[in-house]
Parts: sequence; C-alpha cells; structure tokens
Amino acid sequence: MVAMKAAILYQSLTGTTREAGELIAVNLQQEGWGITGVSSVAKPELRSIQDADLIVVGTWVHGLFVVGQMPFGVANLENLPAMRGKKAATFCTYGLNPGKSLAKMDDAVRKTGLEVVDGMAIHRGKLRSRTEAFAAQLTSKLARA
Ligand SMILES: Cc1cc2nc3c(=O)[nH]c(=O)nc-3n(C[C@H](O)[C@H](O)[C@H](O)COP(=O)(O)O)c2cc1C
Repeated sequence: MVAMKAAILYQSLTGTTREAGELIAVNLQQEGWGITGVSSVAKPELRSIQDADLIVVGTWVHGLFVVGQMPFGVANLENLPAMRGKKAATFCTYGLNPGKSLAKMDDAVRKTGLEVVDGMAIHRGKLRSRTEAFAAQLTSKLARA
C-alpha cells in the first residue's frame, strides 16, 4: 500500500476539536501515513493542503444540544480554497448529541470539490479512543480502495 499524506484542518472554540485533530494526526502517523500539517480553518496552511492527498476536516457541534445541531462555521468550510481531486474525511466533536452535524459538514466540504470518503462524530469525553478508531477505520478503508 502506498502511504497517504494527510493535512488536518480544524475549527475549535475551547480546544477540544484542536486536540482531536492533533490526536488524529498522531494516530494516522502510527498507521504509517504522512502528515503535511495541522492548522485551523481560519488560518489554513495552504502548503499543507497542496501537499496532501487527503484533508481531514473537523469542527464542533453547536445548537441546543438535542435540537438544531449544526457543525460550527459551515460557511468557513465552504470558503476553503478549491481542493478538487483530493479526498476528505470529516469529524465533529460534541457534548451530548451530534444530530445530523456530520452529514451537514460533508455537504459543505463537498462544495470545496473534495470527495468525502469517511467521517466520525467524536464525543468530547472519549477523544483518545475515538480518534484512534477513526484513524484505524480511515486507513483500512483507503487501503482497500
Ligand atoms: C454554544 C455551544 C453550543 C453547543 N451545542 C451543542 C449541541 O447542540 N449538541 C452537542 O452535542 N454539543 C454541543 N456543544 C458542545 C460542543 O460541541 C463540544 O463541547 C465540543 O467538543 C467543543 O469543541 P471545541 O472545544 O473545539 O470548541 C455546544 C457547545 C457550545 C459552546
């Protein structure tokens, strides 16, 4: 299998999604992938996006906890530079119930031209185990692709 190179982009208010992004980077490296950079959607490292085959995009869920959940900053995701031809994996961190946030994120990310191949909602209390599972799931999915 040819190792993939991934860039991580996150949006984070209190640091949880940033930490999840950093853990995903470490876990993907342990699976043998290269990481071109970890940066915020607001200040993306354009070079790391350019150098990557796959972009991992993460944000946090905001809403009224059981209704009206949305991924935070969908417009920012739609405004990312066009990334046609690359793959994407999405994740959102949440406190109680993510609702349909992941599907809404996927729609926004697709508008940038990325092909969404995987995604996971990650409870903020289970960052370590869920980010590990996400990296394992993503690498095995693409090894079979
Ligand atoms: C204003 C606000 C609204 C939130 N609404 C929801 C919600 O509707 N459902 C949910 O599961 N979590 C909700 N959360 C919890 C966050 O999604 C969760 O804590 C997340 O991990 C925060 O990520 P961050 O530290 O990267 O900002 C909300 C948090 C805030 C601050």
